[in-house]
Amino acid sequence: MDGSTLTTLTQDVPSGSPGAVPAKRLHVITWGCQMNVYDSARMADVLAPLGYAATEAPEAADMVILNTCHIRDRAAEKVFSELGRLRRLKDAREAEGGRMILAVAGCVAQAEGAELLARAPFVDLVFGPQTYHRLPELLARLDVAPGGPAVIDTEFPPEDKFDHLPEAAAPQGITAFLTVQEGCDKFCSFCVVPYTRGSEQSRPAGAILAEARRLLAQGAREITLLGQNVNAWHGAAPDGGTWSLARLIRALAELPGLARLRYTTSHPRDMGADLIAAHAEVPALMPFLHLPVQSGSDRMLAAMNRKHRAGDYLDLVGRLRAARPDLALSSDFIVGHPGETDADFAATLDLIRAVGFAQAYSFKYSPRPGTPAASAPGQVEEAEKDRRLAELQALLREQQARFNAGCVGATVPVLLTGPGRHPGQVAGRSPWLQPVHATAPVRLIGTVVPMQIAAALPNSLSGTLVPESVPA
Ligand code: SAH
Ligand code: SF4
Ligand code: F3S
Repeated sequence: MDGSTLTTLTQDVPSGSPGAVPAKRLHVITWGCQMNVYDSARMADVLAPLGYAATEAPEAADMVILNTCHIRDRAAEKVFSELGRLRRLKDAREAEGGRMILAVAGCVAQAEGAELLARAPFVDLVFGPQTYHRLPELLARLDVAPGGPAVIDTEFPPEDKFDHLPEAAAPQGITAFLTVQEGCDKFCSFCVVPYTRGSEQSRPAGAILAEARRLLAQGAREITLLGQNVNAWHGAAPDGGTWSLARLIRALAELPGLARLRYTTSHPRDMGADLIAAHAEVPALMPFLHLPVQSGSDRMLAAMNRKHRAGDYLDLVGRLRAARPDLALSSDFIVGHPGETDADFAATLDLIRAVGFAQAYSFKYSPRPGTPAASAPGQVEEAEKDRRLAELQALLREQQARFNAGCVGATVPVLLTGPGRHPGQVAGRSPWLQPVHATAPVRLIGTVVPMQIAAALPNSLSGTLVPESVPA
């Protein structure tokens, strides 16, 4: 914290009725994966009893939280440019005699909290993904020491944050995230997640079912189970045993009001036979699976410590498609991992052609401090990474366009999630996670309706309601 700029204790906020918690405004900026999106929502839940309500406008905020991502260099650098902008708002507030608390949370905070404070000493509060349930306590420490040193908490605490998060959560909407598993023990050569999120932890089934019931009571119709290795989930069961993710999915599918279930992100090694069977047998489980493979070269997969070969992945895809013929796949790819040759890259293109992906994310390898690949020999030139990425993305784009075009003319069940951009329009999503735009009455939002797909755009579909399906 920059002591010279923090001279006032008073909170410049309107006071409520006597005894009420004074209203304060919270602005959260979120980067990174869906788990960060979930965490940001939970941070807001933790802060609500302290009087914080969300604001879209950072300049109006009494507290700004940056929930950060450390996965690639670019992601981490964005934090510093945003902090520069926020510092000006904070200074302006202080010039008026007010106070703006600036907090950095998430994976950058966890990985480089101390360095971050050295580089941005005007930051007040730094906390990691496993300590945000302690926010009230951290804020109290800050309040007793205005102008004092910043408060930092990047422990992996002995207590489980989920046991300390408030039950009453703000509604997420028709599609909702639910974290079931966190952390990772896989230590892929390139990845910071095992260091930023800690070791693999599964929440108990009872707590997950209770949270799912709350989400459904608040109007959710589709729930996406989240975990860094979600299919490694194995949690304490209500009957005293241990359930697998497949068993959990079967229990969740029974909950009244639930229309759709998804889970992400999976590791190929944890794709058990029972989970594949669930894809065949549980209608609520959507026929779309994000299954990162990273590379199609056995040499690279070994160097990446992925612990499977390209052939294993192709076999797995075969078994999944046998179980659920309309299953569409998505994946993550890294080009230019240390040691990657032209032949290795060609093997990745071969794997992509063999599978045929509906969608994918692809990245240039970015060396991350503290990971084995960062100091490995054979680092690939940036220009070569650019070239490979462009070629890979052209192929993936072509596959996505083909998949979307293949939907034209078909009638597909669409979950309507909200109003569209123009009056009379609604937005929804297909079973394969494609955004669908259509003209339909807003009263249908929250229901699954059959739509005939009229046109495919690069990243979405447009549909028309099948008239006889619309309830009066
Ligand atoms: N747990 C998931 C993914 C976590 S990170 C899994 O095992 O697949 C999301 C994606 O970011 C990864 O799948 C990988 O493709 C990419 N990624 C991770 N570290 C990276 C790095 N150092 N450089 C480039 N991409 C990276
Ligand atoms: Fe990272 Fe690998 Fe763990 Fe995924 S499985 S989070 S890529 S270490
Ligand atoms: Fe990023 Fe942390 Fe998620 S590094 S991808 S926010 S687990």
